[in-house]
Amino acid sequence: AHHFFRTNEFAGKKVLITAGPTYEPLDPVRFIGNHSSGKMGFALANAFYERGAEVLMVAGPTDLQTHNADIQLIGVKTAQEMYEACMQHFAATDIAVLAAAVADYSPAEVAPQKIKKTEETFTLSLVKTKDILKSLGGVKKDHQLLVGFALETNDEEANAQKKLAAKNADLIVLNSLRNKNAGFGIDTNQVSIFDKSGVVYESEVKTKEDIARDIVNVISKRMV
Ligand code: CTP
Ligand code: CA
Repeated sequence: AHHFFRTNEFAGKKVLITAGPTYEPLDPVRFIGNHSSGKMGFALANAFYERGAEVLMVAGPTDLQTHNADIQLIGVKTAQEMYEACMQHFAATDIAVLAAAVADYSPAEVAPQKIKKTEETFTLSLVKTKDILKSLGGVKKDHQLLVGFALETNDEEANAQKKLAAKNADLIVLNSLRNKNAGFGIDTNQVSIFDKSGVVYESEVKTKEDIARDIVNVISKRMV
């Protein structure tokens, strides 16, 4: 059902993609997670692969599979593991697209045994995770293109611009929440893409596969 040939547009280019949620353990049987399906990240991996790139995915827990065994997949669970895998591989990367829904906080302590319901109320202490996009932005070289995602419920454009600047990204893909056919768990999405000069692309509601191809087109125009 998938494509029978690859173009060589991105031949020799190494692309790093993060996808999916992260799971932050509380104890041996529980975690804090989110509803990210990983679909957008996997669609991006497939789209880059179709166009000749060497693709490495770093993905949190998901049931999804890539369309081709040549797409390398590093499976991780936690934000810390995702951070370490990305930091390890970024130097050899030409393009990084961070589509993962990384947990912003993780439990300050992981209980070694199952937490028992002895107390009437229970307060969880959480600490901020490392910001992977910002960390890669901090070590990015001129030849590398760094693309983040953003999810905003208010002041979308201003907040996306802030993220772009704060994390030293080249592009931010803003997930639109205005449309019920966009976002978590479903097969369609609607996005706009910003660089520091403003909006460079706005999509209709489309399948995540089609959005991924459009994102790859925008990135392609930035490559020298
Ligand atoms: N991101 C990351 N590491 C984190 C948190 C987020 O790499 N610990 C990346 C996401 O993969 C995405 C971008 O940063 O590409 C923006 O994520 P988002 O959740 O929209 O923004 P945050 O910076 O986490 O800020 P907030 O959730 O407070 O809006
Ligand atoms: Ca966040």
